[in-house]
Amino acid sequence: MIKTILLNSRPEGKPSVSNFEFKTEDIELTIKEGELLLETEYVSVDPYLRGRMSNAKSYVPPFELNQPVQSGIIAKVISSKNDNFKEGDYVSGMLSWKTQQVSNGEGLNKVDPSKAPLSAYLGILGMTGLTAYCGLTEIGQPKKGETLVVSGAAGAVGSVVGQIGKILGLRVIGIAGSDEKIELLKSKFGFDAGINYNTTKDMTAAIAEAAPNGVDIYFDNVGGPISDAVLVNINRLARIIVCGAISVYNNTEAPKSLSVQPFLVKNSALMQGFIVSNYAEKFPEAMTQLTSWLAEGKLTYSETIVEGFDNIPQAFIDLFEGKNKGKMVVKI
Ligand SMILES: NC(=O)c1ccc[n+]([C@@H]2O[C@H](COP(=O)([O-])OP(=O)(O)OC[C@H]3O[C@@H](n4cnc5c(N)ncnc54)[C@H](OP(=O)(O)O)[C@@H]3O)[C@@H](O)[C@H]2O)c1
Repeated sequence: MIKTILLNSRPEGKPSVSNFEFKTEDIELTIKEGELLLETEYVSVDPYLRGRMSNAKSYVPPFELNQPVQSGIIAKVISSKNDNFKEGDYVSGMLSWKTQQVSNGEGLNKVDPSKAPLSAYLGILGMTGLTAYCGLTEIGQPKKGETLVVSGAAGAVGSVVGQIGKILGLRVIGIAGSDEKIELLKSKFGFDAGINYNTTKDMTAAIAEAAPNGVDIYFDNVGGPISDAVLVNINRLARIIVCGAISVYNNTEAPKSLSVQPFLVKNSALMQGFIVSNYAEKFPEAMTQLTSWLAEGKLTYSETIVEGFDNIPQAFIDLFEGKNKGKMVVKI
């Protein structure tokens, strides 16, 4: 029995479970020479998938309707006719939302469950960790003693960014959506201060208070009014790392936001968007660094693990409600 989740319709505004179709087939998959049969173990749900569900032009093509959704997946090799993989190996790669599938091995990387829990390869030792490390170090150019503000701070990328900021000697302020998350930022991830944007009336004033020396680096995961309030507080030569804009991903109308140019001009500030794959050459360095910080106990991580293949779409939707702390992963 093989289960598949397809994109049934393109979401308008916030996605709903009805945008997805659940298919069950009573078939047995077979493999040819060069192929391997994979069984899905963990599925990553990520905010950027929302972009691929729309028909808009982007850096990756949109998902096709009535085809399986794809995301980062950890799978076990059930059988193999490919010399690079053997039965019992675990692999990570961009795979389909299916309980089992056939692959030719292209784009798959082996992962070692004896070195880290399998789910970590979708988070801190996967795209999340690489995004945090490469964005902060390459665009942020952090210098000891500077002030870093992170939005989406209790999420997968944000919680890693803040910790790397602390390792590099920065004052780190996190913005997140609940008091529980703010507490987590300070107690588990070592942030110096946190601001709950859902209960703070004047975000500009709150950021100014938390960052008395101004903001040198802003790691932006959310965009919208939260980011406007940070921009008003930037210092001369500030670096604004535009990683994502989850607060506007479900917008059906053009968002109203601050005109950023005057703030950039008067502060000679840099604002740069990026896609993690831009820094592929830096991945080996990033992996070595993240792995050793983890081993030394300088870096930690949180995961929200949802159980069950059928719950993948809801777990994805829940990202937009902030139901995750750290990386949202589905265990099959
Ligand atoms: N550029 C790249 O290559 C790259 C790679 C990975 C991720 N990203 C981007 O990085 C950002 C974070 O991704 P992630 O995987 O780490 O997700 P995540 O932060 O683990 O999950 C999303 C979080 O966003 C917050 N959020 C949801 N709606 C919001 C809103 N309207 N306003 C403010 N915050 C909101 C929620 O936390 P609260 O409870 O705090 O609201 C939620 O937990 C996303 O924008 C994503 O697209 C970019």
